[in-house]
Amino acid sequence: MRYNVVKNANEILDNSKYLIKNPERYKGKWNTVFNNNNPICLELGMGRGSFIIEMAKKHPNVNYVGLELDKSQTATAVNNIKNDKIDNLRLICADAKEIANFFGKEIDTIYLTFSEPWPKRQDEKKRFTHEGYLKLYDRIFKKHKHIILKTDNKILFSSALESLSKYWYSFDVVSLDLHNDERKIKNVMTDFEKNYFKEHRTIYYLEASFKG
Ligand SMILES: C[S@@+](CC[C@H](N)C(=O)[O-])C[C@H]1O[C@@H](n2cnc3c(N)ncnc32)[C@H](O)[C@@H]1O
Repeated sequence: MRYNVVKNANEILDNSKYLIKNPERYKGKWNTVFNNNNPICLELGMGRGSFIIEMAKKHPNVNYVGLELDKSQTATAVNNIKNDKIDNLRLICADAKEIANFFGKEIDTIYLTFSEPWPKRQDEKKRFTHEGYLKLYDRIFKKHKHIILKTDNKILFSSALESLSKYWYSFDVVSLDLHNDERKIKNVMTDFEKNYFKEHRTIYYLEASFKG
């Protein structure tokens, strides 16, 4: 899927009430952003945002934050909210490397959806399931850690299984074919996933947790 360039992305972002412009300000205080103490889930690399928008609509008693590095993708996510009023959703346009500056120990679940696979060995550290990122997540998770990952990339999936096991996560669900799994795992599709579904591509899925 090609990334679209949104010419007036800055303007769209500046005018969005969903975009949190200085997320550092709310570190440890996201309950004040949402005005409640409901669980907070974070998607890293939300792209055009379909997944996080749909999740927020489906689960009004859970708060959702979608983070995306690219301004055009974030602006498209803002546009995709349309005129809906989704009180339990906020967006951040920033690098995932920065998350420990944005959140205290207040995140319940992290979603890693079709993240860049970085298949070359020299790029391993950039994968969202590399130990460096798992250490970052430790700084923002509440007591229990919970990661949900979906990908069509075998290299990324197997390295995620290895990296999470080494880091003492347990696997609550592992599926080597999410869309044809007999367990009928509840699933909201992302934008990339909708295309892959049409192409009958195999999707790998895991839910991992650590109850320390
Ligand atoms: C393959 S796309 C998947 C988008 C979306 N999750 C989906 O499934 O439709 C990966 C997204 O991650 C974003 N991304 C890559 N590296 C990132 C980083 N370090 N921080 C935040 N977003 C990042 C990219 O800009 C891109 O939008």
